[in-house]
Amino acid sequence: MVKPFYITTPIYYVNARPHLGHAYTTILADVACRFNAMKGSDTYFLTGTDEHGDKIIRAAQKQSLSPKEYVDQISELFRNLWPELNIDYSYFIRTTDKKHIAIVELVLKRIYDQGDIYFSEYEGKYCFGCERFYMDRELVDGKCPDHEIEPEVIKESNYFFKMSRYQDWLIDHIKANPDFIRPEHFKTEVLSFLRDPLDDLCISRPKTRLDWGITLPFDKNYVTYVWFDALLNYISALGYPENALFDKFWPHAQHIVAKDILKPHGIYWPIMLKAADIPIYRHLNVHGYWNVDQSKMSKSLGNVVDPLELKNIYGLDAFRYFLMREMSFGLDAGFSEAALVQRINSDLANDLGNLLSRVLTMVHKYFDGKVPEVEPEVEKELQLGLESQTQTAVSEYVQAMDHFAFQNAMKAVWVYVNQLNKYVDVTAPWELAKKKSTRKQLQVVLHNLLEGLGVISGLVYPVMPDAAATMQRHLNIEIESDLMGLKDIKSKKLIRSGAELPKSITLFPRIDLEKVKKAASENGGIDNPAVDLKPEITMEEFGKVDLRVATVIRAETIPRAKKLLKLEVDLGKKRTIVAGIAEKYKPEELIGKQIIIVANLKPAKLMGIVSNGMLLAAMEGKRCSLATLDRETTPGTPLS
Ligand code: ME8
Ligand code: MG
Repeated sequence: MVKPFYITTPIYYVNARPHLGHAYTTILADVACRFNAMKGSDTYFLTGTDEHGDKIIRAAQKQSLSPKEYVDQISELFRNLWPELNIDYSYFIRTTDKKHIAIVELVLKRIYDQGDIYFSEYEGKYCFGCERFYMDRELVDGKCPDHEIEPEVIKESNYFFKMSRYQDWLIDHIKANPDFIRPEHFKTEVLSFLRDPLDDLCISRPKTRLDWGITLPFDKNYVTYVWFDALLNYISALGYPENALFDKFWPHAQHIVAKDILKPHGIYWPIMLKAADIPIYRHLNVHGYWNVDQSKMSKSLGNVVDPLELKNIYGLDAFRYFLMREMSFGLDAGFSEAALVQRINSDLANDLGNLLSRVLTMVHKYFDGKVPEVEPEVEKELQLGLESQTQTAVSEYVQAMDHFAFQNAMKAVWVYVNQLNKYVDVTAPWELAKKKSTRKQLQVVLHNLLEGLGVISGLVYPVMPDAAATMQRHLNIEIESDLMGLKDIKSKKLIRSGAELPKSITLFPRIDLEKVKKAASENGGIDNPAVDLKPEITMEEFGKVDLRVATVIRAETIPRAKKLLKLEVDLGKKRTIVAGIAEKYKPEELIGKQIIIVANLKPAKLMGIVSNGMLLAAMEGKRCSLATLDRETTPGTPLS
């Protein structure tokens, strides 16, 4: 019996709309799930939204909505997006669901009753962005490394979870289960964090400060810290404690997260499970970040890419393929439309699409669209290593897919695609077709190619379900169940002699990036779909920004800071600003230029230099263009 498969994504915060980062993780889970279904597993795929906490309240207030109205709206955006991306989840959980709240209460009470939660006064540095206290050693120049602001010192009484009690147990558990956290370098990161003593975790927030959360079952003046609430979704969704789903799937639980939330998943969560006497999950699979121009794509930076827009322009399967092929699981990857178009044109249109259409065209031309018989006398001589190539491709693919190395799985498939392309070139069926005496050879060659394409259609299915179905329709493949399993793929009997094949098709059209950009701008759209407009602001809000004309007097590079330039500007009086444009402008190009700066931005220290203001520039992919004025203007003049 094949083991059941249970996969989860993080439950996403509803403080902003979904972007490519969320789409990536969720597509990844979908791919893993479809692959395991092909292996014959019963699968369960969980995703959902994280709806409590300070971040959410603030986002709701900004939109002048009640928290409930707000979370309903954004949660719906996530739920509606997934089917558009062909993501076939089993269950969508919300932390505001009654069922979930009951489980959080149950687990809290259990841990409290056994004495692992205590009450104490605490003074510490709190980052409101992260919604947590920071230890000094975690801060960079005294600032939160994520939000780059100094945490506020707050003193309050709270409940604490004795994580420290379980530190040694966790270290042993990680060491005893080498693939508990994977890839390896994230396991190392967690173990190195565990070398220092663990602080106990503050798991409550006083209602005087925050009341959008789950009330502690043992003190109604407090709500539960959002992470303690959120992590429990992975079991509440299965109907813990008493439910057949839980018993069946929990022993096989695998989580997928990006490295931003490694610590809650690699440390808090296993310790919570241990303390509550619940078996520990099997694997934590951790991936890197999608970056845009070297910075993480994130809602706080505003550099997000809309997955639906990409689907509409480039096609869903091409988009899914790109995400799986371009990012090595565990490492960061850069997103650009140019890279996407390059993958579509070379791997999909050229290598795979052409192979399919060439072979189908020949079957129509030489055999009237009917799959030719295999002729045993000449079968062997036309093998040319094909059989072992197929086996290698399938076994490397399975191995990689099992280890979440989806990029390697796709690489293995494309090695095979190109071996088939080579097979066409070497056997030259158009030559075989010229003579009656080589008719049998022609039959075998085309039959082999069709079988190879059948194998490929099965292997690409988890990543490109629609393209796989189209291929299978065009190869007239019939299988007993509605899903082509690994067993079918290995059967060598996908293609039936005599079956009629529909006419050839273009599986993936080639893309001309320039045309795409032109069409986007003609449609009144924004040239760069990577740009999402920010929410409206009032004139009054805009008026708070003091924009001024400034003339650059001096510019110099900063040692050890590749990206930064130190500028001295004149805006009535002299100012120093530090700008991240060193890779785009030489210092001497800037002298005398009149630029626009935000003059009332709080000073910030960069590489030891205090920057008093920020210049305006348009960042477009790798290009950057400074905002300047079209007439000479007195330095210091305000812009309005
Ligand atoms: O952290 N590259 O939610 P969140 C790759 N609610 N993946 C990215 C990404 C990027 N640039 N940006 C986001 C939370 N992601 C908590 C989780 S779980 C019990 C609670 C993906 O909305 C990635 O999966 O901030 C990352 O871990 C997740 O979105 C963070 O989503
Ligand atoms: Mg986040």
